[in-house]
Amino acid sequence: MFISLEGPDGSGKSSQLPLLADWLRAEGYEVYTTREPGGTEIGNQIREIVLNKLENTAMHPRTEILLFLSSRAQLVEEVIRPLRDKGTIILCDRYADSTMAYQGYGHGVDLTTLKNLLNFATGNLYPDLTLLLDLDAKTGLDRRKTNGGKWDRLDAFNQAFHERVRKGYLEMAANEPSRWITINANQSINEVQLALRQAIATKLPIPAKG
Ligand code: TYD
Repeated sequence: MFISLEGPDGSGKSSQLPLLADWLRAEGYEVYTTREPGGTEIGNQIREIVLNKLENTAMHPRTEILLFLSSRAQLVEEVIRPLRDKGTIILCDRYADSTMAYQGYGHGVDLTTLKNLLNFATGNLYPDLTLLLDLDAKTGLDRRKTNGGKWDRLDAFNQAFHERVRKGYLEMAANEPSRWITINANQSINEVQLALRQAIATKLPIPAKG
């Protein structure tokens, strides 16, 4: 089973993901965690380029999209598809929906074009379940700063951008309710973790059978 975590910057995905992995392992599942962009040797090299705001200020938006997609294409074929076919649970911090939310809804790239590119890059492989950590843009940005998080090139956009990203996520979740579950991320880490576990338990037997 392939599960992706989505949400705005500062929504807490990266703290929640290892806790989910530990829980699922304790319940008897094989679990593999990964993140985007990155997750493979080639993908991590691409990540360095695409998130390097200091040196790569001249990056064209189409270049940026194709780099995200290159990293993803590699991750799908090297990691996600083979593990999913073996029955491993893959927990992925961001996936194709991030491109729709950030480049599409956020930056205004045509959504149909993006969707076609994503189908190509992923070989039509999409998550079985997508958990959306929903948070208003202002809280997300404040959290990034107070946690001492480094601002990268992609963070350095204004709040209006992040509001569009959020709206995009909520719209995608509403359009495909069988895949998405939305969690209120404006709660304590423990509360969010509990809600995530409850969401996963609607799709998987807990503990694992056999
Ligand atoms: P990262 O440092 O991983 O941030 P986070 O911890 O919030 O996930 O940087 C990922 C950044 O890249 C984040 O701002 C979202 C952005 N992004 C896109 O714009 N498009 C994409 O397709 C992906 C995967 C990420």
